[in-house]
Amino acid sequence: MSDPELYPVPSEWAQRARMTKAGYEAARVAAHERPDAFWSEQARRLDWFSPPTDIKDVSFDKADFHIRWFANGELNVAWNCLDRHLETRGDETAIIWEGDEPTQSGKLTYRELHAEVCRMANVLKGLGVAKGDRVTIYLPMIPAAAVAMLACARIGAIHSVVFGGFSPDSLAGRIEDCGSKVVITADEGLRGGKRVPLKANVDAALEKVSVDKVLIVSHTNAHIPIVEGRDVRYGEAKHGVDDDCPCEPMNAEDPLFILYTSGSTGKPKGVLHTTGGYLFWAAWTHELVFDYRPGEVFWCTADVGWVTGHSYCVYGPLANGATTLMFEGVPNYPDSSRFWQVVDKHRVEIFYTAPTALRALMREGDGPVKATSRESLRLLGTVGEPINPEAWRWYHEVVGEGRCPIVDTWWQTETGGVLVSPLPGATDLKPGSATKPLPGVELELVDADGTVLEGAASGNLVITDSWPGQMRTVWGDHQRFFDTYFSAYPGKYFTGDGCRRDEDGYYWITGRVDDVINVSGHRMGTAEVESALVLHDVVAEAAVVGFPHDIKGQGIYAYVTLNVGIEPSEELRRDLVAHVRKEIGPIAAPDVIQWAPGLPKTRSGKIMRRILRKIAENDVGALGDTSTLADPAVVDDLVRNRAGA
Ligand code: WTA
Repeated sequence: MSDPELYPVPSEWAQRARMTKAGYEAARVAAHERPDAFWSEQARRLDWFSPPTDIKDVSFDKADFHIRWFANGELNVAWNCLDRHLETRGDETAIIWEGDEPTQSGKLTYRELHAEVCRMANVLKGLGVAKGDRVTIYLPMIPAAAVAMLACARIGAIHSVVFGGFSPDSLAGRIEDCGSKVVITADEGLRGGKRVPLKANVDAALEKVSVDKVLIVSHTNAHIPIVEGRDVRYGEAKHGVDDDCPCEPMNAEDPLFILYTSGSTGKPKGVLHTTGGYLFWAAWTHELVFDYRPGEVFWCTADVGWVTGHSYCVYGPLANGATTLMFEGVPNYPDSSRFWQVVDKHRVEIFYTAPTALRALMREGDGPVKATSRESLRLLGTVGEPINPEAWRWYHEVVGEGRCPIVDTWWQTETGGVLVSPLPGATDLKPGSATKPLPGVELELVDADGTVLEGAASGNLVITDSWPGQMRTVWGDHQRFFDTYFSAYPGKYFTGDGCRRDEDGYYWITGRVDDVINVSGHRMGTAEVESALVLHDVVAEAAVVGFPHDIKGQGIYAYVTLNVGIEPSEELRRDLVAHVRKEIGPIAAPDVIQWAPGLPKTRSGKIMRRILRKIAENDVGALGDTSTLADPAVVDDLVRNRAGA
């Protein structure tokens, strides 16, 4: 009997896709058995100034820990994304920009983008930026964001993009950690009709840390104060600047960018990606997973402040000479048809978004979708969190009218690009499963003790060998890199995710097994939210856990113990939420705050989060063993006064 939940590869895909079932199996074997030959061949998709002969040089073992790919190759990322396309597709569109307001949009050809990147690169040089220097980019989703990233890559500077939704404090922490010389920002951003005061946030951040220069792109033309000697308006600085700028030759292992991401402990870590391995992985996976064809319009709705925006708005598509769409706005502004209107307006063929957006739109019913044509769509994708089968089916049936395969892509900031995903011409789909690993990706499931689980099983997801797009270090803290990812299961990379493998060898990611939560596809450390809460005068202690949320996937549930003598109130609750928004940014605002006279702790003082998670999930019948608690009565109180989540 056939599995009712299996969506076989449509026959037209089986015939014309880049990767068929047989091709996929052959590539998996080749990558496994002859990695040097396989990756050396694949890496020819990039333009190398000096092609690599050293291909893979990796050890995950503590004694000899190192990860290097293409290590004697030389290339430049901007060259690969721009210059090499000029002759063949200089007049084709590189970036379609769709603004927050439907009346605002624009296009840049590869030639125009090249000239603009050269100008910004020359301006940065003029500000004293040189190879290896760090540049923080704090911009809205406008072409200048891609221009700034590529301008850095062109001159060998390392960029650190900070999401425009982060607060001045978060921005300051990230500027300080990597020691940026320059910040590139805009006067303001626009999202859903609201203004985001980017330059004002930079000014506030720079009260805590300092940089040499702030380069300001004008977007809304809002009035902004200028700090003499520090602030430079890009519109003025670029006048008379040469629109050609040579590409700095970079070693494959030279850093390309740092991107901060949350872990289970401490401050966000600066994930470092390199020039050769990362660019290769972004480009290769963009073509393979999305079956990209020259001339097609590719739209990834992620913000460039996240890794998805790095790999699939900018680097992957541009390295492949694609037309990439950058959208500044939000899915429900001016109304819930917006995504699909944009698809029709620009005739988007491949559309890639997050399950949280789909769940929010699904709630509005089919009407806003059906009001549009969507006939240009041929492939759909999701990323960032598990997609529930109901949302998957809605995406497939209503948005894609049953015609478009869905690629549910699993990956992480650390992995540089997609690692587990269906290939539309090779993989039969199961709603809710990211299906199978790409060629060269060696997965295992292990139990808590590290015992390898065979066949159909559930456990922790580890990766036993390297792939070119793997992160190389945590900026400034190589030990933390090793400890975070390679110490739990020696010789293996630990993803932090739980996972089930079914009898067909399909992988089903079940979510994080550490203290990281995934709120609307945004990754957050519960420790970061706790630190923000305890900064408030009235808070003695705080513990934060995730709980299931219909739209966001997970919501933020905070248990707060107030200082002696402070009375809980509705006003105080609002105050604390506002405080976290201010400290980290709106994405970290707790959905629920429960006043906790005490937190469940072991006798050694460790908070038992397992219990807090159960209470937040309203699964209070299954609290498990509470006998090791210092004061079991605390739990009864928390259950009795559970906030109506
Ligand atoms: C989760 C985003 C299920 C996972 C690219 C991972 C997913 C974390 C999927 C990384 C998916 C990402 N199915 N879960 N298709 N994609 N995740 O670093 O928990 O922001 O560890 O990278 O998101 O989030 P990050």
